[in-house]
Amino acid sequence: MYKNEKKVGYKDFEDFANNPNLTKYEKIGFPNSYREGKDEAIFQDILSKIPLLHQKKLKIVDIGIGCSDLADFIVAWCKAHEHELFAVDSAAMLQHLPNEPFIHKIAGYYPDTFAALQDEIGKIDVIICYSVFHYVFSEGNMYDFLDKTVSLMKDGGSYCLIGDIPNESKRRRFFSTFTGLHYHQAFMQTNTLPEIMEFPPLGKIDDGVLLGIVQRYRNIGYEAFILPQSASLPLYNRREDILIQKW
Ligand SMILES: C[S@@+](CC[C@H](N)C(=O)[O-])C[C@H]1O[C@@H](n2cnc3c(N)ncnc32)[C@H](O)[C@@H]1O
Repeated sequence: MYKNEKKVGYKDFEDFANNPNLTKYEKIGFPNSYREGKDEAIFQDILSKIPLLHQKKLKIVDIGIGCSDLADFIVAWCKAHEHELFAVDSAAMLQHLPNEPFIHKIAGYYPDTFAALQDEIGKIDVIICYSVFHYVFSEGNMYDFLDKTVSLMKDGGSYCLIGDIPNESKRRRFFSTFTGLHYHQAFMQTNTLPEIMEFPPLGKIDDGVLLGIVQRYRNIGYEAFILPQSASLPLYNRREDILIQKW
């Protein structure tokens, strides 16, 4: 079944970013309760998956960096570690980041802006793309997005984290358990059952999409893994991360 619901996309995020009545969490499309006070745990989870970030003077790309606390943590970390940061997002979103010599702002819809990163092909140590991939899945070409992105990775040990991907199969598995039922009833303050479809709906990311990505990049010579999120993260029971590694 295809759920014909209104989907948020790149243009909506531009509008959110320009709306002075929204908080920084709402500007990146989350209710405050999902991200306020949670971004440090998210950043620690990213650091645990990419320990290379502790080194100095790396080249980092953040695709869809947003303007929440997570972006602030990443900017501060890059400054402290003398990393160069290529921040990719709409001009409306990027205006909320500081203007600093170590930050290169690549404004516009990625990968349409890929030419601005042409000189960085094969030179990037770490790519972070957090809570963005499902928008690409809905309105872009995910393999064009991923193929161009991994082409930026440097030989000799570089990492690309496609983080916080909603997985309908995982959601369905979780809410089919007693743990999931109790979670739903406590969170929603209800005694109803969570809505679970027999199969994941068309138009959504499921295990098949994630496993297909892992297989594609392994076939091309990268290592690729599906990783769970720390249980301290707000959506850990229905989202997961993909880590692609270049030897
Ligand atoms: C849910 S927010 C996540 C922001 C940030 N990564 C975080 O987790 O705090 C999604 C971000 O991706 C950006 N975005 C979505 N699609 C994009 C695209 N194709 N090119 C560039 N930015 C994109 C949006 O403007 C928005 O800032």
